[in-house]
Amino acid sequence: MYRCTDCGAEHPKWGGKCDSCGAWNTLAEEVLSKRQVTVGRPSANGPIPVRLKDLDASETPRLRTDIAELDFVLGGGIVPGSLTLVGGEPGVGKSTLLLQCASQLEQSGVVTLYASGEESASQIKLRADRLDENAGAVRVLPEVRLESVVAHATNVGARVLVVDSIQTVFTDDLEGAPGNVGQVRECAAKLMRFAKETGCAVVLVGHVTKGGGIAGPKTLEHIVDTVVYFEGELSSGFRILRAVKNRFGSIDEVGIFEMTASGLIGVKNPSAAFISSRDANATGTAITALMEGSRPVLVEIQALASKSGFGTPQRVATGLEQKRLAVLLAVLERRAGIPFADLDVFVNVTGGVRLIETASDLAVIAALWSSVSNRPVPSNSMFLGEVGLGGEIRPVGSTERRIAEAARLGFSRAYVPARGKIAEGFDTVAIAHVSELADAVAA
Ligand code: TYD
Ligand code: MG
Repeated sequence: MYRCTDCGAEHPKWGGKCDSCGAWNTLAEEVLSKRQVTVGRPSANGPIPVRLKDLDASETPRLRTDIAELDFVLGGGIVPGSLTLVGGEPGVGKSTLLLQCASQLEQSGVVTLYASGEESASQIKLRADRLDENAGAVRVLPEVRLESVVAHATNVGARVLVVDSIQTVFTDDLEGAPGNVGQVRECAAKLMRFAKETGCAVVLVGHVTKGGGIAGPKTLEHIVDTVVYFEGELSSGFRILRAVKNRFGSIDEVGIFEMTASGLIGVKNPSAAFISSRDANATGTAITALMEGSRPVLVEIQALASKSGFGTPQRVATGLEQKRLAVLLAVLERRAGIPFADLDVFVNVTGGVRLIETASDLAVIAALWSSVSNRPVPSNSMFLGEVGLGGEIRPVGSTERRIAEAARLGFSRAYVPARGKIAEGFDTVAIAHVSELADAVAA
């Protein structure tokens, strides 16, 4: 059989070009091993069926990293023998997070090996010197050959092995260059076997390009036990760690970090951090509460509408989908009679947070209204509601939890859809339609 060394596609005949990925001259011959299946005879030392009730119920203790936000996202710590993938764009802070994690583990007596194919040992040391943690005890190994990494991990008796990154390691068994799909998958599969056989937890770093790209960790998601993504606007200091798959915990939770001059620090009170630099009397700003996992987090939405110079007016959205902004502008124009045709519109979500819920629609609209009419919204208020195409405001989930978070931070009024559930002891103003916004906010 012929297999493409880039994408792994199988071909019965040799060809100059891979039909599947289009790469030239990548097909390599492979011997198909004939597996003999003998019916009725189990393998000599293989596993045998057991009843679940006969299994030892005591849960294997997790390895706590003492980085509270990381433990939280993983569901209480690293599970021994598990394979975890930490994905993220280059420069977001994956190596920093894992070096901090390794140093915490090492300090609590868990032998950790940090294998890096990206940086030399002295470069890792430079990074370590910047951190608050004392990473001196961490063993580092600048190596790209997988077999060697695994052998060293066995020799030092590592209970946690960090491989930074999966795109830089290669196995002797395949010819392709490190980073191609075949290599990435084979290396991950080998590390998976190593983890399951020895009980050593393996943490892989995977780079993702903006598009989710080349030989990306996407191809690994089904192999590994846990996938966490590290994201955030590089220009802002805030980073969000999000579990998208977790065989040993929930995928609801997110951890929020701030990148500082001495490494990543967990943000204990994200709401306060995200709205801290707010000018309460400024126009064009509104507060809303997002659900980040099961936690409500307050964020500030800023809008600026200014006279457009010439040509097609600009629509610039940061932290919000461009298309969603277009929808909201159209609704405001048609249903509330606010013209945007000759205005440039800029919308920004502070802290580098991305709005993925529609629950923040009403806040975006309030910020736009405030900018156009040059009047601030009441400073103690927050906005919750999804905007429909007819201009109607729809209720959103977890209203009480979001309002409770706002109350905790000193807010005293929420603008919510009429049909939404309304919390006690907090001033709530019902808005059923976008045309009511102006009167409701000015009152
Ligand atoms: P890094 O962990 O190298 O990112 P990744 O491994 O995801 O590519 O982090 C790189 C960025 O973090 C870099 O721009 C410098 C910054 N940084 C700090 O701001 N403070 C620090 O203490 C460290 C170690 C890095
Ligand atoms: Mg790195």
